[in-house]
Amino acid sequence: MALRKLIAGNWKMNGSLGALAELDGIAASAEANPGVDVAICPPFTLIAPAVQRQPGLAIGGQDCHHAVKGAHTGCISGDLLREAGATLAIVGHSERRTDQHETDAEVRAKAEAAIAAGLVAIVCVGETEAERDAGSALAVVEGQLAGSVPPLGTGETLVVAYEPVWAIGTGRTPSVADVAEMHAAIRAKLNGLLGGEGAKVRILYGGSVKPDNARELLAVADVDGALVGGASLTAALFVPIIEGGAAVG
Ligand code: PGA
Repeated sequence: MALRKLIAGNWKMNGSLGALAELDGIAASAEANPGVDVAICPPFTLIAPAVQRQPGLAIGGQDCHHAVKGAHTGCISGDLLREAGATLAIVGHSERRTDQHETDAEVRAKAEAAIAAGLVAIVCVGETEAERDAGSALAVVEGQLAGSVPPLGTGETLVVAYEPVWAIGTGRTPSVADVAEMHAAIRAKLNGLLGGEGAKVRILYGGSVKPDNARELLAVADVDGALVGGASLTAALFVPIIEGGAAVG
């Protein structure tokens, strides 16, 4: 079953109020390509101004604390994200799993909190280069899914992003065959974890998605979209990726 593709941008700790001008071209492309969903996840401080500038464009956060509120300096709750106008939240990105030592259990709690707040949770998984070289990529990702996918996730509330750590920001991508193998394994695992909903959860590929490789990656079976870092920062690079998704969607 072909699912509606989601092309999501993760600005990480990049951008500025001035950079929100890039959203104009991105929103125009989203409107011109109604067959795909488009979202941008900027830094927290830019969420409300981004929504104000382009109310028709889906805007997300890059994290979501597991608690509803409380003494958690520097963190952000799902309700606060919603109030700012966000409709999605990325959780468990490999940069947070590494830099903030987030565990699978924490990622699952964050995804559950995001969903409880009415957000779509984008749960990230992916192996390191050493794990791939050791032949354990599939087992690592299946383990991350078992630990971090919320059991009550549905096709409406949950998205999974497969992002091999060694492909993020490096200009390197897995072969189409490796992407196909991994996405098929993720689908099978989601079917096992979520029953009938497993087939409805979109599985994004992320890691050095660019205009020149987007179409090929997005055409792979069970690649239901892309999570894009560097190439989402400008409309000039992100729009061709949206168009690539629309072309194969
Ligand atoms: P990249 O980042 O596209 O810059 O490789 C992807 C991501 O980390 O989501």
